[in-house]
Amino acid sequence: MGKKIIVVGASSGIGKAIAELELKNGSEVVLIARREKELKAIVSQWNAKGKSKPAFAVPFDVTNFSQAEKTFEKAVKELGGLDEIYFASGLMPEVSPNEYNTAKDISMLNVNTLGAVAILNPAATFFTKQKSGKIIGISSIAGERGRKGNPVYNTSKAALNTYLEALRNRLSESNIQVTTIKPGFVKTEMTKGLPLPEKGLLKAISAEEAAEKIVKAVAQGKQETFVPGIWALVGLIIRNIPSFIFKKLSI
Ligand SMILES: NC(=O)c1ccc[n+]([C@@H]2O[C@H](COP(=O)([O-])OP(=O)(O)OC[C@H]3O[C@@H](n4cnc5c(N)ncnc54)[C@H](OP(=O)(O)O)[C@@H]3O)[C@@H](O)[C@H]2O)c1
Repeated sequence: MGKKIIVVGASSGIGKAIAELELKNGSEVVLIARREKELKAIVSQWNAKGKSKPAFAVPFDVTNFSQAEKTFEKAVKELGGLDEIYFASGLMPEVSPNEYNTAKDISMLNVNTLGAVAILNPAATFFTKQKSGKIIGISSIAGERGRKGNPVYNTSKAALNTYLEALRNRLSESNIQVTTIKPGFVKTEMTKGLPLPEKGLLKAISAEEAAEKIVKAVAQGKQETFVPGIWALVGLIIRNIPSFIFKKLSI
């Protein structure tokens, strides 16, 4: 039987690919993001395929924190229940080496961390009452260590990891799965124009490949998964490089 799923950050990239894969697998999906036109284009494409109308668009800015609970409830009402929620919204503005831009930094924390908290808290309450459900957060390899390039992007993902781990520990007694996804390089709007590797072990993958791996890991009940798996080794290495060496690396 098809599942009832919410994907937050579904207007492009990894979130869109997850929403489309879940629709292809027969689930009903509410797609949430700010860009209404993009959401409606995906929804009408899927709803035109057959008699049932499995896709719903709920435009929402996750930084509108006071409305997050209402938006979550609206999405659940559209679906008539809920089995899984993915949080894929994210921002990574370009930050130059000597730039300390508080406005940019706050925008990343607001979307990547607080946006997740605002919408996943009501999901945790809902699933606790239901005694089942899955919460999936799209974090990043970038949360493993504080690197030079974009300090607050790293911070926002490290904080998201800790929040998801705490949710997992709280909710495990209520039969609720919480999965943290840590992608490496994925070709999306976020990474457009960046010099991503096209070859080798760490080559960038498509959003569709990432979605396949993410949905599989969730179905397998994983707590945490690097996407693709090779990034687990990278994570292990970078977490263990001593600080006096890490400081000197331009990563
Ligand atoms: N691409 C990579 O290499 C990579 C690697 C590691 C982790 N990630 C993570 O993967 C996730 C998805 O990113 P992506 O690569 O697929 O990039 P993307 O195509 O830019 O997708 C980002 C999504 O976040 C949504 N979003 C941004 N601000 C929002 C807001 N205020 N309210 C609601 N939604 C908002 C966007 O929708 P709207 O603009 O329509 O609101 C869009 O759907 C992010 O969390 C990112 O940090 C990506």
